[in-house]
Amino acid sequence: MNFDLNRLVRENIKNLKPYSSARSEFSGKASVFLDANENSFGSPLTKWYNRYPDPQQWELKKKIGSIKNVVAEQMLLGNGSDECIDLLIRAFCNPNEDNIIICPPTYGMYEVYAHINNVEVKEVPLLTNFQLNLEGLEAAIDAATKMIFFCSPNNPTGNSLEREDIETVLNNFDGLVVVDEAYINYSRRRSFIADLKDYPNLVIMQTFSKAWGLAALRLGITFASIEIINVLNKIKPPYNINQATQELVLKALDNLEDVNVMIKETIGEREALIKGLRALDLVENIFPSDANFILVKVDDANGIYAYLKEAGIIVRNRSNVLLCEDCVRITVGTPEQNKQLIEALKLFNS
Ligand SMILES: Cc1ncc(COP(=O)(O)O)c(C=O)c1O
Repeated sequence: MNFDLNRLVRENIKNLKPYSSARSEFSGKASVFLDANENSFGSPLTKWYNRYPDPQQWELKKKIGSIKNVVAEQMLLGNGSDECIDLLIRAFCNPNEDNIIICPPTYGMYEVYAHINNVEVKEVPLLTNFQLNLEGLEAAIDAATKMIFFCSPNNPTGNSLEREDIETVLNNFDGLVVVDEAYINYSRRRSFIADLKDYPNLVIMQTFSKAWGLAALRLGITFASIEIINVLNKIKPPYNINQATQELVLKALDNLEDVNVMIKETIGEREALIKGLRALDLVENIFPSDANFILVKVDDANGIYAYLKEAGIIVRNRSNVLLCEDCVRITVGTPEQNKQLIEALKLFNS
């Protein structure tokens, strides 16, 4: 496989002269900042929120890098990993010309961002065991395929994709292979981050929205080669990660132990929830999960969804999704929430 990043980048992005922000033009020490048209008199809050944040979030990236064992230059932070998906498609896919491949059932935003950007989406559905269809992928790839999105552990099925299958694609596809690891902290599988040195076409996404419990702050990470990150940096909004998020996530990173405790609790509750669900007649199948949710096949997904909603319990009805007929996706709750769910389900149709 001959990987040539230059071939993949859109011509207009290659030629783009990026916006040069005041905060990125000056580096060094100064005491009077009159360069960015900020409010020199301060802010109604006590913090220095009148100042634009670091456009490259170096302090935050360095701290994340020390935990993940990656240099800061190999990271791009996004306003949620959703922004990372959008940036990838806009940097590499020519509207009306290129295509991406997704493997449904999977996370919906790959397709949405491709369509927003008028980029064709080719679908190679997972096999019935929710693993990759390698022959299908080989047949679907054409000269205009710029990237393939894999989600592992996958949303909404919950399972991890086989590492060897992803490696096969990494070894044979000369476009970008994006592995979305939003739920990796709940899985025993090894992240692909350590494989960045072996694969110039590998892109990994992670997020602070799940195991880190910081969905409200909106912080996602793209890990890739410095060359790929440099392309994304050209097109990202100058101050895409706000100061409050940068400060709060820096603080959260000191609490790795607390996060590990929550991960353990979630996994314990996932197993307890599976046990509780298994005892119910209405449950037909529970798919194995490496995530903080479970996909459950029931005998009447629409009925159960509506019934639970009436009871004030919201789950995700996935019954219209390919290979997920009559399935609901249930996020693992606290012991109390899970008990409430099981008790409600016991009374369904009685
Ligand atoms: C697989 C997957 N990727 C990405 C995201 C989006 O994450 P973020 O909150 O970082 O935008 C989600 C959210 O549910 C997800 O399930």
